Amino acid sequence: MISQLPPGYFDKPNIARVQDHLDGGTDNYVVDRNFALGLVEVASWLPASVRINRAQGPRILDHFTGELGIDQVIDLGCGLPHDSNRSLPNAVRRIVYVDHDPGVAAHARMILAERHGTAAHHGDLNDMPALLDAAPVAQLDRTRPIGVLLHDILPWISDESARTALAALRDWLPPGSALSLTHAATETAPDTMASLVAHYARAGIPFRPRTRQQVRDLLSSWTPLDGDFVTTASWRRPVLHPGFDHSHAYAILASPGDRTP
Ligand SMILES: C[S@@+](CC[C@H](N)C(=O)[O-])C[C@H]1O[C@@H](n2cnc3c(N)ncnc32)[C@H](O)[C@@H]1O
Repeated sequence: MISQLPPGYFDKPNIARVQDHLDGGTDNYVVDRNFALGLVEVASWLPASVRINRAQGPRILDHFTGELGIDQVIDLGCGLPHDSNRSLPNAVRRIVYVDHDPGVAAHARMILAERHGTAAHHGDLNDMPALLDAAPVAQLDRTRPIGVLLHDILPWISDESARTALAALRDWLPPGSALSLTHAATETAPDTMASLVAHYARAGIPFRPRTRQQVRDLLSSWTPLDGDFVTTASWRRPVLHPGFDHSHAYAILASPGDRTP
């Protein structure tokens, strides 16, 4: 696996490994931990925010299977394996993990995709047609609904790429499908978010938290399944007072709606 990674892969902080460290994982290196220290210095709530975001994965899988009757799923930008995605609800029959990071895709192949009914793919949201054409994704049964997780991936993608990827996905998904999105919010802690953006920028990593309206605009062709956006911590839970809400992210469930054939 290591020999397939690009030169310098371990020399700079990496989004997935930094997230793994903030979540208490061990798949990370000194460069990631030092970088994460700087992030936590400006946002002490960040580890809590990461944990809340990651807990949303299994909650949504339960929702897909239990309430929407969806048992096949694509996890786009799956990240490194963590406690909340090491076991799957029994009712999920097929899940395809996708990430553009070669180290993450290799991990997903070794750890997540070793279970029955799972597969991993090294694919890029910036090239959605190729991603949707690749074997493990294309082999999903498009005569039945498919659930898609886009959890904390769009902040790492430009507006244009996000719009293009969402449009391709919406065209491709069969009726009855559902999209679950989590997305870093600008409004809940604007100054701190700006400092996080600056810290990532110094490492050459563009990080794009968005306003509620910007996220709404990205999803303008989709039909919300939950009314208006709530924060991830408040998704299907009592709404928290802002001072107690460390998610600093939105959680949205949407359907591709009716499309002209
Ligand atoms: C912050 S992590 C989120 C991981 C996981 N979805 C979660 O919520 O815990 C973002 C992930 O998106 C992946 N990613 C970023 N840009 C991507 C792209 N263009 N295509 C596919 N994956 C991407 C990163 O490699 C990373 O693993």
